[in-house]
Amino acid sequence: MEDHLPQSVRVERRPVTESESRRANGPDWDRYADEYQATHGAFLGDAGFVWGPEGHTEDELRVLGDVAGLDVLEVGSGAGQCSRWVRTHGGRSYGLDLSHRQLQHSLRLDAETGTSVPSVRATATALPFATASFDVVFCSFGALQFVSDIDDAVAEVARVLRPGGRFAFSVTHPTRWMFPDDPGEPGLTATQSYWDRTPYVEVDDASGVVSYVEHHRTLGDWVRLLTAHGLGLTDLVEPEWPEHHDRVWGGWSRLRGRLTPGTAIFVAHAARP
Ligand SMILES: C[S@@+](CC[C@H](N)C(=O)[O-])C[C@H]1O[C@@H](n2cnc3c(N)ncnc32)[C@H](O)[C@@H]1O
Repeated sequence: MEDHLPQSVRVERRPVTESESRRANGPDWDRYADEYQATHGAFLGDAGFVWGPEGHTEDELRVLGDVAGLDVLEVGSGAGQCSRWVRTHGGRSYGLDLSHRQLQHSLRLDAETGTSVPSVRATATALPFATASFDVVFCSFGALQFVSDIDDAVAEVARVLRPGGRFAFSVTHPTRWMFPDDPGEPGLTATQSYWDRTPYVEVDDASGVVSYVEHHRTLGDWVRLLTAHGLGLTDLVEPEWPEHHDRVWGGWSRLRGRLTPGTAIFVAHAARP
C-alpha cells in the first residue's frame, strides 16, 4: 500500500466508486511503474513467477498445475513476468493491465528476454475476450484489490473461463487489513476492524483528487463472491514467511511475516458440464 506514497498525499478510509478507482489507479500505476520495476524487477525475475512479497514461486507452490498447451490469461499482468514464465513452460499466456506504462515495461522485457507475452490494455471488470476462451485465469497481486466492482470482475473471469477451468489469485491476506501498513513494530498491533470494508484511499493534498485506491474483502466475502459466480473454492494457500527471507516490501517484513500471514492465494474451478 504505502510502498509508493509521495509526501503530498493524505491517506483516508472512505467509499469510492469503480470509475474513481480506475481514474486513480491507472495514472498512479503509470507514474509508479518505472520505480516499481526498478525496485522489484530483479526480485520478480524477467520471466519469473512470484506469488507475493514472501517470494514463493509457482515452481514451489504449483498452484496452476501443468500449464503446457493451455490458454492462460493474467489479469493485472504489469510487466508480464508471470505470463512470461507460463510461456517458457509451454502455456499460451496473455497479459491484461490498466497501466500503459506497465505494459511498456512488458514490451521491454519481451525484447530483452526473447519471450513475448501478447498483452492488452483493459480493465479487469470488462475483459475484451470471448466467452470460454481460457483454461486458466490468474492474478498475482494484480487488479483485484484495486477494483471496486469486484462482482463484475469475478463475473468476467467466470465468463471467459472454459468449463472446469481454473482461477487462481493472490491478494493481501484479508487479516492484514486490521493492522497499520507498517513493516515494523507498529504493524503488529490491530488498530482497525477486520470487517470494515471502507477502501484505503490516497488523496492529493493540493487538488483533493483521489490518486490511489485499494479495496478490502474478508475471507468470507471472497468465498461468497466465487461461489456466486459458479467458481468452487478448491484451495486457499497461505504461504509462510521463509526462514532466510529478509526482504522488506511495503508493509511485508520478516518481523510481521513470522507472526501473521501477508498473502492469500485463492484457487477455484469453474463447474464442468
Ligand atoms: C502489484 S501490480 C502486480 C503486477 C504483477 N503481477 C507483478 O507482480 O508485478 C498490480 C497491477 O494491477 C494493475 N491494475 C490495477 N487496477 C487494474 C484494473 N482495474 N484492471 C487491470 N489491471 C489493473 C496495475 O496497473 C498493476 O500493473
